[in-house]
Amino acid sequence: MPTEPEESIMPLLLLEGVSRSFQGPQGPFHAVRDVRLALSPGECVAITGRSGSGKSTLLNLIAGLDAPTSGRLLLDGIDLGALNDAGLTRLRREKIGLVFQFFNLLSTLTVRENVVLPGRLAGRNERELKSDANALLQAMDLSPRADATPETLSGGEMQRCAVARALIHRPRLLLADEPTGNLDTRSAEQVLDLMLTLPRERGTAVLIVTHSAEVAARADRQLVMRDGVLRPEGVPGE
Ligand SMILES: Nc1ncnc2c1ncn2[C@@H]1O[C@H](COP(=O)(O)OP(=O)(O)OP(=O)(O)O)[C@@H](O)[C@H]1O
Ligand SMILES: [Mg+2]
Repeated sequence: MPTEPEESIMPLLLLEGVSRSFQGPQGPFHAVRDVRLALSPGECVAITGRSGSGKSTLLNLIAGLDAPTSGRLLLDGIDLGALNDAGLTRLRREKIGLVFQFFNLLSTLTVRENVVLPGRLAGRNERELKSDANALLQAMDLSPRADATPETLSGGEMQRCAVARALIHRPRLLLADEPTGNLDTRSAEQVLDLMLTLPRERGTAVLIVTHSAEVAARADRQLVMRDGVLRPEGVPGE
């Protein structure tokens, strides 16, 4: 009898024994240690952990902005280690939305232009882009500020602009480093709602680094980073 083909539900993101060390004056410093992680489409995972525990380093590895010292990262079945810089840039443009700890908005562009840019770089249709940008600006309460430049925005407005920009090209994976760090409770709720509902509707996986227990509690899964080691919340460290 022919055997049934093995059902393979490929995770959207897969990390296999990922480590990153930095050379310091006193020898190597292990910022990320043997991280294993699988993320399904539409799943939201929160990572908490002390300052310096390796959270941003891990996010940079997943975004292909940095390479691991050892281990393997697969996004949508693509091995990041097999790509050159141009390939990594393309992968980011097409599949990843990034909200950095310090927004990185372009000061010479307006809010709307900042939001639209990644969509253009990903080659999305202009008409769709325009209507998506309007919807995102409205959802972020930024429509009245759409033609302003970033330096005239409040910290919370900049953060909301960065989130809208990260979602415009409909990424498969949204990576956010402290996306609600500078926001008051209401704005934080607003940003989180957008970061959770829209991706869930579209099957986008979300990885949020946060210091906030309330933010983490809204994720499907909570993980804690301790000295570069990633564990489920509630599991004591060594
Ligand atoms: N390029 C680098 N060279 C050397 N050390 C680095 C480098 N990048 C990060 N580190 C070190 O790795 C450790 C983890 O840094 P990381 O930025 O990942 O922490 P974090 O968990 O994001 O902290 P925070 O909550 O403050 O943002 C820190 O001790 C940091 O100094
Ligand atoms: Mg950080």
